[in-house]
Amino acid sequence: MTKIIDGKEFAQKIRNQVKEDSDRLLQNHKVQPCLAVVLVGENPASKVYVGAKTKMAAECNIITKDFKMEDTTDQATVLKVIDELNNDPHVHGILVQLPLPKQIDERAVIDAIDVKKDVDGFHAINAGRLSIGGEMLKQAFIPCTPLGSLLLLKDTLPNLSGLNAVVVGRSNIVGKPMSQLLIQESCTVTIVHSRTKNIEALCAQADIIVAGVGRPEMIKSDWIKKDAVIIDVGINRIPTIKSDGSEGTKIVGDVDYQDVFEKSSAITPVPGGVGPMTIACLLRNTVTSAYRHSGQADPRGTFDIK
Ligand code: GUN
Repeated sequence: MTKIIDGKEFAQKIRNQVKEDSDRLLQNHKVQPCLAVVLVGENPASKVYVGAKTKMAAECNIITKDFKMEDTTDQATVLKVIDELNNDPHVHGILVQLPLPKQIDERAVIDAIDVKKDVDGFHAINAGRLSIGGEMLKQAFIPCTPLGSLLLLKDTLPNLSGLNAVVVGRSNIVGKPMSQLLIQESCTVTIVHSRTKNIEALCAQADIIVAGVGRPEMIKSDWIKKDAVIIDVGINRIPTIKSDGSEGTKIVGDVDYQDVFEKSSAITPVPGGVGPMTIACLLRNTVTSAYRHSGQADPRGTFDIK
Protein backbone atom coordinates (compact mmCIF):
# COMPACT_ATOMS: atom_id res chain seq x y z
CA MET A 1 0.00 0.00 0.00
CA THR A 2 1.40 3.37 -0.98
CA LYS A 3 1.48 5.93 1.82
CA ILE A 4 0.21 9.40 0.97
CA ILE A 5 2.46 11.80 2.87
CA ASP A 6 0.10 14.36 4.39
CA GLY A 7 1.94 17.68 4.44
CA LYS A 8 -1.18 19.58 5.39
CA GLU A 9 -1.58 17.70 8.66
CA PHE A 10 2.15 17.78 9.43
CA ALA A 11 2.32 21.52 8.75
CA GLN A 12 -0.60 22.09 11.12
CA LYS A 13 1.32 20.24 13.83
CA ILE A 14 4.33 22.51 13.26
CA ARG A 15 2.18 25.65 13.30
CA ASN A 16 0.64 24.56 16.62
CA GLN A 17 4.14 24.32 18.07
CA VAL A 18 5.11 27.66 16.52
CA LYS A 19 2.11 29.32 18.17
CA GLU A 20 3.01 27.77 21.55
CA ASP A 21 6.60 29.01 21.22
CA SER A 22 5.46 32.44 20.06
CA ASP A 23 2.99 32.78 22.95
CA ARG A 24 5.62 31.69 25.48
CA LEU A 25 8.09 34.33 24.26
CA LEU A 26 5.44 37.03 24.54
CA GLN A 27 4.37 35.91 28.00
CA ASN A 28 7.84 35.45 29.48
CA HIS A 29 9.85 38.11 27.68
CA LYS A 30 7.27 40.55 26.28
CA VAL A 31 8.50 39.98 22.72
CA GLN A 32 6.11 39.20 19.87
CA PRO A 33 7.78 37.67 16.79
CA CYS A 34 7.56 39.88 13.71
CA LEU A 35 8.12 39.02 10.04
CA ALA A 36 8.59 41.69 7.37
CA VAL A 37 7.47 40.60 3.90
CA VAL A 38 8.74 42.52 0.87
CA LEU A 39 6.87 42.03 -2.40
CA VAL A 40 8.00 43.87 -5.52
CA GLY A 41 5.69 43.75 -8.54
CA GLU A 42 2.53 41.93 -9.46
CA ASN A 43 3.57 38.28 -9.95
CA PRO A 44 0.22 36.49 -9.35
CA ALA A 45 1.76 33.38 -7.73
CA SER A 46 3.87 35.57 -5.41
CA LYS A 47 0.79 37.52 -4.34
CA VAL A 48 -0.96 34.25 -3.44
CA TYR A 49 2.05 33.01 -1.43
CA VAL A 50 2.43 36.31 0.41
CA GLY A 51 -1.31 36.33 1.26
CA ALA A 52 -1.07 32.79 2.66
CA LYS A 53 2.04 33.63 4.70
CA THR A 54 0.34 36.66 6.24
CA LYS A 55 -2.79 34.72 7.18
CA MET A 56 -0.93 31.80 8.76
CA ALA A 57 1.47 34.10 10.60
CA ALA A 58 -1.51 35.81 12.24
CA GLU A 59 -2.84 32.41 13.37
CA CYS A 60 0.51 31.79 15.10
CA ASN A 61 0.45 35.23 16.78
CA ILE A 62 3.31 36.42 14.59
CA ILE A 63 3.08 40.06 13.49
CA THR A 64 3.64 40.68 9.76
CA LYS A 65 4.64 43.95 8.15
CA ASP A 66 3.94 44.05 4.43
CA PHE A 67 6.00 46.17 2.03
CA LYS A 68 4.40 46.13 -1.41
CA MET A 69 6.27 47.95 -4.14
CA GLU A 70 5.65 48.75 -7.80
CA ASP A 71 7.00 46.50 -10.56
CA THR A 72 9.24 49.38 -11.70
CA THR A 73 10.89 49.94 -8.28
CA ASP A 74 14.66 50.30 -8.57
CA GLN A 75 17.24 48.34 -6.61
CA ALA A 76 18.34 51.28 -4.43
CA THR A 77 14.78 51.68 -3.15
CA VAL A 78 14.53 48.00 -2.22
CA LEU A 79 17.94 48.13 -0.53
CA LYS A 80 16.84 51.17 1.49
CA VAL A 81 13.80 49.26 2.79
CA ILE A 82 16.03 46.28 3.68
CA ASP A 83 18.40 48.60 5.54
CA GLU A 84 15.54 50.05 7.58
CA LEU A 85 14.24 46.57 8.42
CA ASN A 86 17.73 45.40 9.38
CA ASN A 87 17.88 48.27 11.87
CA ASP A 88 14.36 47.87 13.24
CA PRO A 89 14.65 46.02 16.59
CA HIS A 90 11.00 44.93 16.41
CA VAL A 91 11.57 42.98 13.16
CA HIS A 92 12.97 39.45 13.58
CA GLY A 93 12.56 38.03 10.09
CA ILE A 94 12.86 39.58 6.62
CA LEU A 95 11.49 37.81 3.57
CA VAL A 96 11.89 39.19 0.06
CA GLN A 97 9.53 37.29 -2.18
CA LEU A 98 11.27 35.90 -5.28
CA PRO A 99 11.43 36.29 -8.21
CA LEU A 100 12.23 40.01 -8.29
CA PRO A 101 11.68 42.18 -11.40
CA LYS A 102 14.59 42.00 -13.85
CA GLN A 103 16.05 45.46 -13.09
CA ILE A 104 16.91 44.21 -9.59
CA ASP A 105 19.92 42.01 -8.76
CA GLU A 106 18.41 39.28 -6.59
CA ARG A 107 21.71 38.24 -5.03
CA ALA A 108 22.55 41.84 -4.02
CA VAL A 109 19.17 42.19 -2.29
CA ILE A 110 19.33 38.81 -0.51
CA ASP A 111 22.86 39.43 0.73
CA ALA A 112 21.84 42.88 2.02
CA ILE A 113 19.49 41.21 4.51
CA ASP A 114 20.94 40.92 8.03
CA VAL A 115 22.03 37.27 8.17
CA LYS A 116 20.41 36.97 11.62
CA LYS A 117 17.05 37.99 10.12
CA ASP A 118 17.35 35.90 6.94
CA VAL A 119 14.52 33.49 7.78
CA ASP A 120 14.43 32.25 4.16
CA GLY A 121 18.00 30.99 4.61
CA PHE A 122 19.06 32.35 1.19
CA HIS A 123 21.89 34.67 2.34
CA ALA A 124 25.32 33.51 1.16
CA ILE A 125 26.43 33.07 4.81
CA ASN A 126 23.43 30.89 5.68
CA ALA A 127 23.98 28.88 2.47
CA GLY A 128 27.64 28.45 3.50
CA ARG A 129 26.70 27.36 7.01
CA LEU A 130 24.33 24.77 5.58
CA SER A 131 27.05 23.50 3.29
CA ILE A 132 29.59 23.23 6.13
CA GLY A 133 27.04 21.57 8.44
CA GLY A 134 27.70 20.34 11.98
CA GLU A 135 27.89 23.13 14.59
CA MET A 136 27.65 25.78 11.85
CA LEU A 137 24.16 24.55 11.01
CA LYS A 138 22.96 25.40 14.53
CA GLN A 139 23.38 29.14 13.85
CA ALA A 140 21.94 28.98 10.35
CA PHE A 141 18.48 29.36 8.96
CA ILE A 142 17.67 26.47 6.64
CA PRO A 143 15.64 27.29 3.48
CA CYS A 144 12.01 26.49 4.17
CA THR A 145 11.02 24.26 1.23
CA PRO A 146 14.00 21.87 1.56
CA LEU A 147 13.60 21.81 5.36
CA GLY A 148 9.90 21.01 5.03
CA SER A 149 10.70 18.30 2.48
CA LEU A 150 13.31 16.76 4.79
CA LEU A 151 10.94 16.79 7.78
CA LEU A 152 8.35 14.88 5.73
CA LEU A 153 11.00 12.48 4.49
CA LYS A 154 12.37 11.77 7.99
CA ASP A 155 8.84 11.20 9.25
CA THR A 156 8.41 8.56 6.51
CA LEU A 157 11.91 7.04 6.63
CA PRO A 158 13.52 7.73 10.04
CA ASN A 159 16.94 6.44 8.97
CA LEU A 160 18.10 7.88 5.66
CA SER A 161 21.71 6.75 6.07
CA GLY A 162 23.17 5.10 2.99
CA LEU A 163 20.10 5.55 0.82
CA ASN A 164 20.41 6.75 -2.78
CA ALA A 165 18.70 10.11 -3.16
CA VAL A 166 18.22 11.87 -6.48
CA VAL A 167 17.41 15.58 -6.38
CA VAL A 168 15.83 16.76 -9.61
CA GLY A 169 16.70 20.45 -10.13
CA ARG A 170 19.67 22.59 -9.04
CA SER A 171 18.05 25.84 -7.89
CA ASN A 172 19.37 27.84 -4.93
CA ILE A 173 15.89 27.70 -3.36
CA VAL A 174 15.33 23.94 -3.56
CA GLY A 175 17.84 21.67 -5.33
CA LYS A 176 21.14 22.83 -3.85
CA PRO A 177 20.05 23.19 -0.19
CA MET A 178 18.06 19.94 -0.43
CA SER A 179 21.14 18.07 -1.60
CA GLN A 180 23.15 19.53 1.31
CA LEU A 181 20.54 18.40 3.84
CA LEU A 182 20.47 14.90 2.37
CA ILE A 183 24.27 14.67 2.45
CA GLN A 184 24.09 15.52 6.17
CA GLU A 185 21.64 12.64 6.59
CA SER A 186 24.34 10.42 5.05
CA CYS A 187 22.45 9.80 1.81
CA THR A 188 24.33 9.25 -1.42
CA VAL A 189 23.13 12.24 -3.39
CA THR A 190 22.90 12.78 -7.14
CA ILE A 191 21.66 16.09 -8.53
CA VAL A 192 20.12 15.89 -12.00
CA HIS A 193 19.03 18.85 -14.14
CA SER A 194 18.09 19.97 -17.62
CA ARG A 195 21.51 19.09 -19.09
CA THR A 196 21.84 15.69 -17.40
CA LYS A 197 22.30 12.72 -19.71
CA ASN A 198 20.30 9.57 -18.88
CA ILE A 199 18.16 11.37 -16.35
CA GLU A 200 15.57 8.55 -16.28
CA ALA A 201 18.20 5.88 -15.61
CA LEU A 202 19.69 7.90 -12.73
CA CYS A 203 16.25 8.47 -11.19
CA ALA A 204 15.48 4.76 -11.54
CA GLN A 205 18.33 3.96 -9.09
CA ALA A 206 16.96 6.23 -6.37
CA ASP A 207 15.46 5.12 -3.07
CA ILE A 208 14.33 8.75 -2.68
CA ILE A 209 13.43 11.29 -5.36
CA VAL A 210 13.01 14.96 -4.51
CA ALA A 211 11.67 16.82 -7.53
CA GLY A 212 11.83 20.62 -7.78
CA VAL A 213 12.18 21.67 -11.40
CA GLY A 214 8.87 23.32 -12.27
CA ARG A 215 8.04 20.94 -15.14
CA PRO A 216 4.49 19.66 -14.84
CA GLU A 217 4.19 15.86 -14.42
CA MET A 218 7.66 15.22 -15.87
CA ILE A 219 8.51 12.19 -13.73
CA LYS A 220 6.74 9.02 -14.88
CA SER A 221 6.53 5.54 -13.37
CA ASP A 222 9.26 4.11 -15.62
CA TRP A 223 11.66 6.72 -14.13
CA ILE A 224 11.34 5.33 -10.62
CA LYS A 225 12.49 2.26 -8.72
CA LYS A 226 9.82 0.05 -7.13
CA ASP A 227 9.02 1.29 -3.58
CA ALA A 228 10.87 4.60 -3.96
CA VAL A 229 9.79 7.49 -1.72
CA ILE A 230 8.76 10.51 -3.79
CA ILE A 231 8.82 14.10 -2.52
CA ASP A 232 7.26 16.41 -5.10
CA VAL A 233 8.16 20.07 -4.61
CA GLY A 234 6.68 21.22 -7.93
CA ILE A 235 3.70 23.58 -8.01
CA ASN A 236 2.61 24.01 -11.64
CA ARG A 237 -0.65 25.45 -12.91
CA ILE A 238 -1.84 23.72 -16.10
CA PRO A 239 -4.99 24.03 -18.24
CA THR A 240 -7.73 21.45 -17.64
CA ILE A 241 -11.30 20.71 -18.66
CA LYS A 242 -13.58 20.86 -15.62
CA SER A 243 -16.36 18.33 -14.87
CA ASP A 244 -18.96 20.68 -16.40
CA GLY A 245 -16.96 20.80 -19.67
CA SER A 246 -15.67 24.35 -19.17
CA GLU A 247 -12.00 25.28 -19.40
CA GLY A 248 -10.10 25.90 -16.20
CA THR A 249 -6.72 25.32 -14.57
CA LYS A 250 -5.40 22.92 -11.96
CA ILE A 251 -2.26 22.59 -9.87
CA VAL A 252 0.04 19.61 -10.49
CA GLY A 253 3.52 18.68 -9.31
CA ASP A 254 6.67 17.73 -11.20
CA VAL A 255 5.70 14.07 -10.75
CA ASP A 256 2.91 12.34 -12.66
CA TYR A 257 1.07 11.37 -9.46
CA GLN A 258 -1.46 8.93 -10.94
CA ASP A 259 1.19 7.15 -12.98
CA VAL A 260 3.79 6.90 -10.19
CA PHE A 261 1.45 6.20 -7.25
CA GLU A 262 1.30 2.35 -7.30
CA LYS A 263 5.00 1.90 -7.86
CA SER A 264 6.13 4.21 -5.04
CA SER A 265 6.03 3.27 -1.33
CA ALA A 266 5.19 6.83 -0.25
CA ILE A 267 4.46 10.05 -2.12
CA THR A 268 3.55 13.67 -1.39
CA PRO A 269 0.40 14.90 -3.14
CA VAL A 270 0.22 18.28 -4.92
CA PRO A 271 -1.41 20.28 -3.48
CA GLY A 272 -1.26 19.24 0.19
CA GLY A 273 2.29 17.88 0.35
CA VAL A 274 5.38 20.07 0.54
CA GLY A 275 3.51 23.37 -0.11
CA PRO A 276 2.04 23.83 3.39
CA MET A 277 5.36 22.80 4.95
CA THR A 278 7.20 25.73 3.36
CA ILE A 279 5.10 28.32 5.19
CA ALA A 280 5.15 26.36 8.46
CA CYS A 281 8.97 26.25 8.35
CA LEU A 282 9.13 29.97 7.55
CA LEU A 283 7.04 30.76 10.63
CA ARG A 284 9.20 28.41 12.69
CA ASN A 285 12.36 30.18 11.52
CA THR A 286 10.78 33.55 12.39
CA VAL A 287 9.98 32.48 15.96
CA THR A 288 13.48 30.98 16.32
CA SER A 289 14.91 34.32 15.20
CA ALA A 290 12.79 36.19 17.75
CA TYR A 291 14.14 33.88 20.50
CA ARG A 292 17.73 34.50 19.36
CA HIS A 293 17.20 38.28 19.20
CA SER A 294 15.86 38.16 22.77
CA GLY A 295 18.97 36.32 23.97
CA GLN A 296 17.06 33.06 24.46
CA ALA A 297 18.06 29.55 23.35
CA ASP A 298 16.24 28.17 20.29
CA PRO A 299 12.79 26.97 21.36
CA ARG A 300 13.45 23.51 19.87
CA GLY A 301 15.84 21.57 17.67
CA THR A 302 15.55 21.45 13.89
CA PHE A 303 13.98 18.00 13.83
CA ASP A 304 12.13 18.19 17.11
CA ILE A 305 8.50 17.72 16.00
CA LYS A 306 6.11 15.98 18.35
N1 GUN B 1 9.78 32.10 -4.27
C1 GUN B 1 9.54 30.78 -4.39
N2 GUN B 1 9.79 30.14 -3.22
C2 GUN B 1 10.20 31.09 -2.36
C3 GUN B 1 10.59 31.05 -0.99
O1 GUN B 1 10.64 30.01 -0.33
N3 GUN B 1 10.93 32.24 -0.44
C4 GUN B 1 10.91 33.40 -1.15
N4 GUN B 1 11.28 34.52 -0.54
N5 GUN B 1 10.56 33.48 -2.42
C5 GUN B 1 10.20 32.32 -3.02
